[in-house]
Amino acid sequence: MSKPEMRSCLQVIKPYQPGKPVEEVERELGLKGVIKMASNENPMGPAPLAVKAMREKADQMHIYPDGNAYYLKNALSAKLGVSPDQLVFGNGSDELISFLTLTYINPGDEAIMISPSFSEYVFAMRLMGGEIRKVPLKEGSFKFDLEGILNEINEKTRLIFLCSPNNPTGTTISKKDLAGFVEKIPPKVILVLDQAYHEFATDPEHPDGMEYINEGYPVISLRTFSKIYGLAGLRIGYGITIPEIAADINRVREPFNVNAMAQAAAIAALEDKDHLERSRQMVSSARKQLAAGFAEMGLKAVPDQANFCFVDVKVDSRMAFEALLKKGVIVRTGDIFGFPTHLRVTYGTGEQNKRFLAALKEVLQELR
Ligand SMILES: Cc1ncc(COP(=O)(O)O)c(C=O)c1O
Repeated sequence: MSKPEMRSCLQVIKPYQPGKPVEEVERELGLKGVIKMASNENPMGPAPLAVKAMREKADQMHIYPDGNAYYLKNALSAKLGVSPDQLVFGNGSDELISFLTLTYINPGDEAIMISPSFSEYVFAMRLMGGEIRKVPLKEGSFKFDLEGILNEINEKTRLIFLCSPNNPTGTTISKKDLAGFVEKIPPKVILVLDQAYHEFATDPEHPDGMEYINEGYPVISLRTFSKIYGLAGLRIGYGITIPEIAADINRVREPFNVNAMAQAAAIAALEDKDHLERSRQMVSSARKQLAAGFAEMGLKAVPDQANFCFVDVKVDSRMAFEALLKKGVIVRTGDIFGFPTHLRVTYGTGEQNKRFLAALKEVLQELR
C-alpha cells in the first residue's frame, strides 16, 4: 500500500519510550508489589483536596470545560501575584513545550538546551523542523555552563531551555547567575525556565523567574500539577509569562486542551497546604535515607533540589536496571541521558527507599 510521505522533519523523531507501568512489569515478570521510582511521580498520591473536588465534579462531565480556565486562572494569579493574562495552561507542561515550538519555530530555527536535560525539548523542536544545540553541564558538578549557552546564541536562536531543578541531575541555577544571564540574552530570544520541580527546591537561592517576567523580559516559567501536587494522571501544567507571549501561545492552543476535572482538581490542590508540606518532608527524609544507603555502598548522588536523584552506580546502568526490575523496583537508566553508569531514582516513601536500597545492594554485588 502506498501512503503520502510524512513531513521530512518527522523522520528523525523516534516515538517516545515511556517507562514501563507497574502493571506491565508485574504481568511480564510474574511479580507482585512492584514499586516505580522512575517517573518522578509523588508517592504520597494526589492532593486529597483535589480528589474531593474531582468527586464533586464527576456528575458535570457532560459539560465542556471552560476553555479560558477562568477560576483556575484567578486562583493562580492571586497566589502568584500576576495578572490572569500572564497565565497559559497546557495538557501537562509537556504540551506547553510543544506550544512554544509551534508558536515560535520555523524550519531551521534554533534552540539551545543544557545537556543532559528533559528530552521533550528535542522532540518539540524536531516536530517543527528546528535545530537544537546542546551545551553540556559542567563535568563533575553538573552545574549549568551559562557562558557556554551565551556563546551558542546566533541570529537563528529563538528559544533557550533551562530546566531548574534539572531533570535528570536535580541541579539548579542560582538567583545571582540567572540575573546576569537574563540581561545578556538578546530580546528576540525567549528564555524557557522549566520549573516542573520548583516546589521541591528548598535552597533560598533557587529563582522562580517572576521578577524578570514582571519586568517584561521574554521569559516563561513552566510549572506543573504532576509532581508535588501528585496529579500526573490528570495532565495539567501552566506557564507564567508576559501577556504578549501568553497571547501568542493562545493562538495555537485548542480551546478545550485542559479538561474540566483537571481544572477543578488543580484549584483544590493549590489549597492543600498539608499535602504539599507532607510531600516536601517525604522528599527531605528520602534524600537523607538514600544518601546514607549510597554512602554504605561507596556511592554518592549528585546534590539535588528535586524529588529524584542522579547517582553513579559504577556499573552498566542498563544491567543494573534489568536486575532491579527482577527484584520489583523500576528506576530510570542514565544511558538515555548519556551517562551509562548512572541511575535516576525518584525519592519514595521510607518503605520504598528501603526496598530500593536493599535491592541495589544485592544487584551491585551481583554485577561488580
Ligand atoms: C523537567 C520536566 N518538565 C516537564 C515535565 C512534564 O510534566 P507534565 O506532566 O506537566 O507534562 C516533566 C515530567 O517529567 C519534567 O521532568
